[in-house]
Amino acid sequence: MPRTLATAPIMVLNGPNLNLLGKRQPEIYGSDTLADVEALCARTAEAHGGTVDARQSNHEGELVDWIQEARQGHIGIVINPGAYSHTSVAILDALHACDGMPVMEVHLSNIHRREEFRHHSYVSRRADGVIAGCGIQGYAFAIQRIAALVAPAEVQV
Ligand code: DQA
Repeated sequence: MPRTLATAPIMVLNGPNLNLLGKRQPEIYGSDTLADVEALCARTAEAHGGTVDARQSNHEGELVDWIQEARQGHIGIVINPGAYSHTSVAILDALHACDGMPVMEVHLSNIHRREEFRHHSYVSRRADGVIAGCGIQGYAFAIQRIAALVAPAEVQV
């Protein structure tokens, strides 16, 4: 059975320290919380007839496990890998195993305007699109993009 937005959720993954959103360096990451992000994703997906399965972990292996789970039952992945963006070949490899599944990478901050070590993301080698510097709105853009990629006719403007 082919997966559709109506039958399979979009996996929304947030990596390390994003549980502290709203409290952690608000001058960089803003004052919205992770619950606000997840509610925004759910609302955006719903507007396209979809649902989200939102999870956060501070552990690389758990994120890898969840990406492998998404490979089996989800329609696409939105991921903010946090600091693992800049270090994790394991997360990149897990995403590479999700053949044909749309993957959107999100960063709240504009990583290219920040320290040099944040300029490179391993995940970007697999991501179909990368959104950085749009704050939590970036997650809504990413969900919209997944919807466009899996159901092109539905989301034409
Ligand atoms: C981040 C940027 C990363 O460099 C950082 O380690 C994070 C958050 C962002 O959303 O801007 O934890 O992914």
